[in-house]
Amino acid sequence: MSKSAEGTASIPLKKTVRFTEMAKGGAGEYALLHRLEQDYIRELPARLLAALRELENSLSGYRVSRLEHSLQSATRAHRAGESEEMVAAALLHDIGDGLAPHTHGEMAAAILKPYVSERAYWIVKHHGVFQMYYYAHHLGGDRHARDRFRSHKWFQDCADFCEKYDQNCFDPDYPSEPLEFFAPILQRVFAKPRKEFL
Ligand SMILES: [Fe+2]
Ligand SMILES: [Fe+2]
Repeated sequence: MSKSAEGTASIPLKKTVRFTEMAKGGAGEYALLHRLEQDYIRELPARLLAALRELENSLSGYRVSRLEHSLQSATRAHRAGESEEMVAAALLHDIGDGLAPHTHGEMAAAILKPYVSERAYWIVKHHGVFQMYYYAHHLGGDRHARDRFRSHKWFQDCADFCEKYDQNCFDPDYPSEPLEFFAPILQRVFAKPRKEFL
């Protein structure tokens, strides 16, 4: 930093607690941390958008990026008149691909859980095994693995989600909405967690 800038720079110091062991923290310190955490949580939609942008560089081999796949999924859900929570679910359903390649549906579902219905959560959590219907037999797997959920009340809903908003969302010519289109929807869906998560 130059000498002249030194006097004028006013980067506010972040308030921090004094403790180095949680057991020794006080009520005032935990109140501060709680406030900061609430602010941080409010920025979740922005972090989700950033994580979606990262999907531009994930799995190769398909004709579209994972980001385009996600946009296509959300666009089809939106144009079909689905609720905003289902549009958000479609947009985020593969967000776990990078960090949880073997359990990506569970990761996406965990992100959505405090903000969406049990139904939307269940669909996203299980979409991976339902998607196997479209390809597993080509790899020596069981395309009917989803049948273990056959009697579940949301079996057909999850099958429909995969048919209409997942297996068909690899089309480089589909006119998807851009990510910015979905930003206000994410803001609304992630505005407030259900009370058991507060
Ligand atoms: Fe998936
Ligand atoms: Fe997908």
